[in-house]
Amino acid sequence: MDIPEKLIEILKKAKKVAMLTGAGVSAESGIKTFRDPDGLWTKFNPAELASIDGFMSNPKLVWEWYQHRRAIVFDAKPNPGHFAIAEMQNLFDKFTLITQNVDRLHQTAGATNVLELHGNIIDNRCLDCNRNFEGETSLADKFVPRCTHCGGLIRPCVVWFGEMLPEEAFKQSELAAMHCDVFFSVGTSGEVYPAAGLPFIAQNYGAKIVEVNPNHTSVSNSMDFVLRGTSSHVLPLIVEKLKN
Ligand code: OAD
Repeated sequence: MDIPEKLIEILKKAKKVAMLTGAGVSAESGIKTFRDPDGLWTKFNPAELASIDGFMSNPKLVWEWYQHRRAIVFDAKPNPGHFAIAEMQNLFDKFTLITQNVDRLHQTAGATNVLELHGNIIDNRCLDCNRNFEGETSLADKFVPRCTHCGGLIRPCVVWFGEMLPEEAFKQSELAAMHCDVFFSVGTSGEVYPAAGLPFIAQNYGAKIVEVNPNHTSVSNSMDFVLRGTSSHVLPLIVEKLKN
């Protein structure tokens, strides 16, 4: 695929760039997306597995599902898309990486200061007293562990449907969208708000907005540039062009 020369020209002049990533970026690392034809939400019910009500009505089922997903994440390695994004951090005065992904593969690839809008699947915390349980639970735990401090149930540090996004991370994401020259939306269906609204904030404040996705999404028609390809293909091409 050809990256439009106009986009490269804009990126070469850009000082501030922001990027929102979604599950598609990790698809080629073997982690399933949510809404693709073989995605998680085509087989499983998010109300049962990704909400506080689901957890309270069947904690064991939800815990087991997250243990299963963690095992996949622990085995996964970053792909060329993750590495290209980490490299993009060095190509602009300011590059803000905002992710909906919970797998920490951006950080494994070398990205720093990642704004995690949906938390992460590695850590756990007590539902009642909020104490962190990083490293104190194991993949072998078949039943939901209890907090050693207050006896509450331990839950993964992901954001579930109906829960607030981490306030500071979202505030920083909005500021990055308002002040960037170019905003990328990569590997996300643009279905889940408020994250999906960030490209529009950027556009309203004058930035060019760019989609990298092999498929049409609900935000495609609003984009200034649409790059139809996988993130592991398109992003390394952009990095190469910017370095030459
Ligand atoms: P989705 O599953 O909704 O969308 C994944 C997107 O990735 C789709 O638009 C695909 O076309 C695209 N895609 C697939 N393979 C790709 C590849 N190799 N390169 C680039 N793009 C590719 O995932 P998200 O938009 O991340 O929230 O979903 C948003 C949120 O919904 C998730 O963070 C999760 C979910 O419910 C929570 O769990 C709170």
